[in-house]
Amino acid sequence: MHEPLVYLNGDFLPLSQARISVLDRGFLFGDGVYEVIPVYGGHPFRLRQHLDRLGDSLRGIRLEPPFGHDEWERIAAGLLDGREADQSLYLQITRGAAGNRDHAFPVAVTPTVFAMASPIPSPNTEKLQKGIAVVTLDDVRWQLCHIKSITLLANVLLRQQATDEGCDEAILIRDGQATEGTVSNLFIVKDGLILTPPKSHHLLPGITRDLVLELAASANLPCAEALIGLPDLESADEIWLTSSTREVMAVTTLNGRAVSDGTPGPLWRRMIQLYQACKERLRTGADY
Ligand SMILES: Cc1ncc(COP(=O)(O)O)c(C=O)c1O
Repeated sequence: MHEPLVYLNGDFLPLSQARISVLDRGFLFGDGVYEVIPVYGGHPFRLRQHLDRLGDSLRGIRLEPPFGHDEWERIAAGLLDGREADQSLYLQITRGAAGNRDHAFPVAVTPTVFAMASPIPSPNTEKLQKGIAVVTLDDVRWQLCHIKSITLLANVLLRQQATDEGCDEAILIRDGQATEGTVSNLFIVKDGLILTPPKSHHLLPGITRDLVLELAASANLPCAEALIGLPDLESADEIWLTSSTREVMAVTTLNGRAVSDGTPGPLWRRMIQLYQACKERLRTGADY
């Protein structure tokens, strides 16, 4: 079997031959940003939105975008060529390798640009049907969570804490308000109304989050942005977590207690149908 090709600084090469300097600022400082884009039937899902967010993340860390959407599309096509299964496209840019380890930005250093594609694991049908268990944890992350930074240590530690407590994900609470999950955005349903926290520096502007809001609006399902406190979470009729790779997951256990009757709710079932229909339209080449 051929080794998968990855993209590194202008070249497509086998993964085992991709090398970066140990002085790369991504390695030393986590000084970089990334994107994860699902690809269905060879078609990247919401590519423009992902690339726009990548541009925002780059501006957020004061790094010039290395190139425009066309070049990213060329790289994506190169990585996806010949791959049948659904893929996840990973893009990462760091501030590059300077000659020494100094926190201040280096002068005239070329950013490191890396991209790879890997098969998306098929959704866990049991978790889809039964929903997932989550725990609430203190949001100990920094103040710039709207940037999709590779500096993910707080997310990693929080996610591990959730795993240690037998849960699939953590919902993070900052100053009494739920922000998002460690790798996902948050929705609740209360009395037929779908709610999600407004965008701010305390959460990632999820591409799936925006799509879920769009799908809800197009299906005339009432939805709004609103602050969600811990009591709102605890009294929610439904809780959902969204992300590009996990799509829309129903949370059926919160801090060891059942959400409603402990099964995925009716609005979640409607939303997941709408979401799957979108994916299927994308497979036929429709613009999504
Ligand atoms: C912290 C965080 N919030 C939200 C999301 C969901 O974003 P998207 O729907 O764009 O995948 C992610 C995805 O990785 C994430 O890491």
